[in-house]
Amino acid sequence: MGAPFATHHVLFVLWFLATTFSLNFFKVESNSNVSCYEKDKQALLSFKQGLVDSGNVLSSWSDHGDCCRWHGVRCNNNTGQVTELHLRCSRDGDGFLNYEKRLGGVISHSLLELEHLNYLDLSENEFNCTGIPSFLGSMGSMRHLDLHEAGFCGVIPYQLGNLSSLHYLNLGRNFGLYADNLHWMSSLSSIQYLDLSSADLHREVDWLQIMSEFPSISNLILKSCHLDSLNPSLASVNFTSLRSLDLYGNHFNHEIPNWFSNLSTSLLELFLNENSLIGGIPPGILNFQILEYLDLEDNSLSGKIPESLGHLKHLKYLSLSINSLSGPIPSSIGNLSELQILSLGINKLNGTVPKSLGLLSNLMSLEIPINNFKGGLDEAHFTKLWKLKYLDISYTPLFFNVNSNWVPPFQLEYVSTSSCNIGPNFPTWLHTQTSLQFLLLPLSRISDKAPSWFWDWISNIYSVDLSNNHIEGDVPDILLNSTILKLRSNHFKGRLPRLSANVEVLDLAHNSFFGPISTFLCQKMNKKNKVKVLDVSNNFLLGELSNCWRYWQSLIHLNLGANNLSGRIPYSLGSLVELKSLSLQNNNIYGDIPSSLKRCSKLGFIDIGVNNFSRTIPFWITKLTQLIVLRLRSSGLRGNIPLNLCQISSLRILDLANNSLSGPIPSCFKNISAMVMPDPENQDVYFESLEYSFDYGSYFENLMLIPKGHELQYEDNLKFVRIIDLSSNKLSGSIPVEISVLSELRFLNLSRNHLMGNIPENIGIMKELESIDLSRNHLSGEIPPSMSNLSFLNYLDLSYNNFSGRIPLSTQLQSFDAVRYIGNPQLCGAPLPNGCTPPIGESHNRTSTGKKKEDSESSSFYMGMGVGFAVGFWGVCGGLFWNRTWRHAYFKFVNDKKDWFYVTKILKVKWLLEKLRSGGLSK
Ligand SMILES: *[C@@H]1O[C@H](CO)[C@@H](O)[C@H](O)[C@H]1NC(C)=O
Ligand SMILES: *[C@@H]1O[C@H](CO)[C@@H](O)[C@H](O)[C@H]1NC(C)=O
Ligand SMILES: *[C@@H]1O[C@H](CO)[C@@H](O)[C@H](O)[C@H]1NC(C)=O
Ligand SMILES: *[C@@H]1O[C@H](CO)[C@@H](O)[C@H](O)[C@H]1NC(C)=O
Ligand SMILES: *[C@@H]1O[C@H](CO)[C@@H](O)[C@H](O)[C@H]1NC(C)=O
Ligand SMILES: *[C@@H]1O[C@H](CO)[C@@H](O)[C@H](O)[C@H]1NC(C)=O
Ligand SMILES: *[C@@H]1O[C@H](CO)[C@@H](O)[C@H](O)[C@H]1NC(C)=O
Repeated sequence: MGAPFATHHVLFVLWFLATTFSLNFFKVESNSNVSCYEKDKQALLSFKQGLVDSGNVLSSWSDHGDCCRWHGVRCNNNTGQVTELHLRCSRDGDGFLNYEKRLGGVISHSLLELEHLNYLDLSENEFNCTGIPSFLGSMGSMRHLDLHEAGFCGVIPYQLGNLSSLHYLNLGRNFGLYADNLHWMSSLSSIQYLDLSSADLHREVDWLQIMSEFPSISNLILKSCHLDSLNPSLASVNFTSLRSLDLYGNHFNHEIPNWFSNLSTSLLELFLNENSLIGGIPPGILNFQILEYLDLEDNSLSGKIPESLGHLKHLKYLSLSINSLSGPIPSSIGNLSELQILSLGINKLNGTVPKSLGLLSNLMSLEIPINNFKGGLDEAHFTKLWKLKYLDISYTPLFFNVNSNWVPPFQLEYVSTSSCNIGPNFPTWLHTQTSLQFLLLPLSRISDKAPSWFWDWISNIYSVDLSNNHIEGDVPDILLNSTILKLRSNHFKGRLPRLSANVEVLDLAHNSFFGPISTFLCQKMNKKNKVKVLDVSNNFLLGELSNCWRYWQSLIHLNLGANNLSGRIPYSLGSLVELKSLSLQNNNIYGDIPSSLKRCSKLGFIDIGVNNFSRTIPFWITKLTQLIVLRLRSSGLRGNIPLNLCQISSLRILDLANNSLSGPIPSCFKNISAMVMPDPENQDVYFESLEYSFDYGSYFENLMLIPKGHELQYEDNLKFVRIIDLSSNKLSGSIPVEISVLSELRFLNLSRNHLMGNIPENIGIMKELESIDLSRNHLSGEIPPSMSNLSFLNYLDLSYNNFSGRIPLSTQLQSFDAVRYIGNPQLCGAPLPNGCTPPIGESHNRTSTGKKKEDSESSSFYMGMGVGFAVGFWGVCGGLFWNRTWRHAYFKFVNDKKDWFYVTKILKVKWLLEKLRSGGLSK
């Protein structure tokens, strides 16, 4: 995990944007007629010699020619002396660094020859963890020194303190920098802008006093500097001209000090986010008359939001998200007439939302998800919210208490009420919203007929999620047009609708659609179908899979499971070469599994279980080298388990249960490396067959497994499962000893076969095992003592075999019910009622220290995806929003609400930027 260097507030983004766009400016070369000094030219050439310039950035720097016209060089128009060097690495159109154009190597002393150099920008290059040259401290004319994100390491040279003309010093985001003491800085008497982000400053306890003595500092940026105290004991801290203070990502672990109340009268921006601050919000911090940006996000602040919030009359941006604040939103919020962005999500706010909110006539974004608000929202809450575009009240008990003919003053672009209670009637005011792009109303307790305007209306909305409501309606003969449409788990019925060429994700699972599927699959479209995800599982669809797959060449996820489909799998299905997951389970499909499917080489997920294939497992299955999930349960399969199955090293879920498979369990299972080795990091691409992500959401494949004796549906947690289920077949022979190599396996079910012999002695090294079912076989011998080492084991069934001897003593093995051991007449000891002869003292011979884990079905699946994700992930988000693929990849990691909050925030910031560019957000 990288250090959290990139902050996530709007200003950062604005800065990012500014730097990205200002690059063109740097390309403008001086066009004065004076040519450069020979001495300066030689100094520059010798500077170039020290550098490693593999991207030929400095190709214009050559012996002949006017050095004032070289790339990045600026001269004084009158004298011709070199005064500025602008050598920041360039970025591409998406905002990503042109990594191959980074300069490196050694910064030569020859720079000292450039006596008039006052501006040096070497930022965003790669100096490969070398030190910042101390001779820079001798460049007395220097006013602007920018070395940020250039890979410098080591101690910040104290010689920089000699630069008494320096206005601007940016050493931010050089992750290996540190300083033991900053007292030398006090001589930087002209400093206005100081950024030491990511340098380790934790040893300098006096940093605050030192910085506050700079007479003209206006921007102080100390993000992620490992600072651990804001000196709460100081009576006052007195910056005279501070405009922006950014202390994001330190760990102060104490209350917000009182000295904040007299910090500076000129403060415009205060960022104290992600600092582990505790206690209440001191009213004093709300006294900054001209403050525009206040970010206290992601701390542990508690208590109420003070009424004095209303004093911040110029506030444009307020985020108190991710804290433990309780009580109401203070009604004084109505005084913040310039507020544009209000973010209070993930708190414990348990009072009402005041009607004065409706006075915020500049508010564009209201984001208050995951709180326990009381009461509802009515017309008054929105009276003057003309500019509101973004509304997120998800995961709150809020509801809309508005007239059915309410016409809101706003035109939203984004609305999320996930898990709110906005039903039971369909909210008719939505019909007035004609600019919506994201309509996210899953789990919102709407139990109503879809209004007559419903289908026409949503056809203009880019992304619609109304999953898990109780919306009824006959689907008329309409054309679906949303790019993303999720109507999963409702009561829609009728024939499947036609699709326009815009549709990419269509999830109509768990409704009551009926009729032949071929009508839908063979529909004519005027343009090429772009559907990537099609899930119509759990409906009442009939008939044979058609031969119309040529229309569906973009499909990545196809789920037709749990319908009444019949016939064979058509050979033409193999033309879906982009397919990553295929679910046809629980139908009446019979015949061969066509070998054409081997052409779908990206397949990672196959669930065609519970059908009637009555064939052997096809040998060509090894061609699917990316297969993660293979579920062929209850499909009438015969013959042996083919050995070449073991060549699919990516396999994690193998469910062949309830067939008529015979012969031995292949010992080559040990070659399935995904069950042997832990996941390498950064595996998100690998899981694309399990999940498809898009803006503000994703589609998960789901899968029924029987990990511990009963059926469980897996969705987003599927990626953490590793299971072999061969139960209820006719397998014979012994359990191969090699199986113990599968140290990542969590669930092993070999029950109801004809297996003989012993349990492998070293089964105890399969450390991840949570469940073992070997019941109803002919296994014999003693239960290996090593089983007591299986500390995650919480399901065990050894019943109805021929085991003998004592059940090994451990806290674990005795904790299971006796029925898990019965049917083994020669087995004795607890928990069975029959004791062993001769008895032994149970207080001795305890071997295991293992402790039983709580039987929560998914808890351990989340292990290894720590909370730290949310923090670490900012370490790479710098360019994230510029690239769709990246953005979507990050939705894959989301597994708690806080992560969700951060990921959606990236998109939101992107959205804000677009507003900014179109003049919607004034600064
Ligand atoms: C440069 O010199 C040319 C000819 O000597 C003159 O016409 C032009 O105006 C000069 N440009 C500048 C920027 O001084
Ligand atoms: C130098 O000349 C350039 C281009 O003519 C001009 O933009 C810039 O302002 C001049 N700088 C000074 C210091 O006169
Ligand atoms: C960076 O430094 C390391 C170790 O000092 C060296 O092995 C590596 O080659 C250097 N890389 C570059 C690009 O100079
Ligand atoms: C803060 O600085 C101002 C201006 O320099 C000065 O007048 C005032 O006394 C200082 N206050 C404290 C508490 O140091
Ligand atoms: C809100 O929560 C706080 C802190 O948990 C509690 O003290 C207070 O009684 C709650 N207020 C209401 C109205 O439920
Ligand atoms: C379909 O969606 C596109 C863009 O998403 C939109 O321009 C078009 O008007 C929509 N068509 C209909 C019939 O709603
Ligand atoms: C139990 O422990 C005793 C001594 O601690 C040892 O002699 C005996 O062999 C052990 N029995 C078993 C079954 O491990």
